[in-house]
Amino acid sequence: MSKIEKIKNQKTPITCLTAYTFPIAKILDKHCDVILVGDSLGMAIYGMENTLGVTVQMMIDHGKAVTRAASKALIVVDIPFGSFEKSKEQALETAQKIMKETNCDAVKLETTRATIETVMFLVEHNIPVMVHVGLLPQKVIEMGGYKYQGKDEKSAAEILQTAIDLEKAGAFGMVIEGVPADLATKITKSVKIPTIGIGASVDCSGQVLVIDDLLGLNQIFKPKFVKKYADLAEDIERSVERFCADVKSRKFPSDEYVLKQ
Ligand code: KIV
Repeated sequence: MSKIEKIKNQKTPITCLTAYTFPIAKILDKHCDVILVGDSLGMAIYGMENTLGVTVQMMIDHGKAVTRAASKALIVVDIPFGSFEKSKEQALETAQKIMKETNCDAVKLETTRATIETVMFLVEHNIPVMVHVGLLPQKVIEMGGYKYQGKDEKSAAEILQTAIDLEKAGAFGMVIEGVPADLATKITKSVKIPTIGIGASVDCSGQVLVIDDLLGLNQIFKPKFVKKYADLAEDIERSVERFCADVKSRKFPSDEYVLKQ
């Protein structure tokens, strides 16, 4: 059974985290069902304000690092802003380039009604596509910030219909981000493909978080849906302080760290 078929048939909740580097991917591969090389790397790694400046080359470079480290998990790489919207042919060219150069298992596309045909075209050309509905970080300007979507009846119905149509278009999985819990539950019950929630609902088929958020490395932005499982920013700062103090006081390097002849 292919990794994608396994995820589609999985009966237990799907675990997904983002990874952008070799050492983190190596750890995640032991535990996660899916590793997402998300375009959130623009903020997490490059200190960008949003994901709009992320390039295809960045996704390829980090995608390569992750696929080198991971063999068990399904690896999905994001298609970044500005590399697929012009036409379905442009989207196919970008998706093929990312898949060829990174050796990933699938791509993810932030999707609206306008991209349903593109998803269909990619699937027809043998590209496994995970779609992304609800809060779309690549539309942060249009959405007026990182705001929950589908809060009123009309927009909730639109998101639900888009999700149903994206499944029909051939997507194998779906990220649902930043929507009220009952809408995420309704989408999950209305489609057969797995849904992976972030700021969505415990009823989704699985959950995803950005690794830097989970580890407490993101000191800038704290969305409501993030649960911090560690405070690595604090740990790093304490370690750096101790190193600097040791160097200033000439405690480091002590005898055990130098070669004595
Ligand atoms: O880019 C990303 O990390 C994502 C997740 C937030 C789902 O799309």
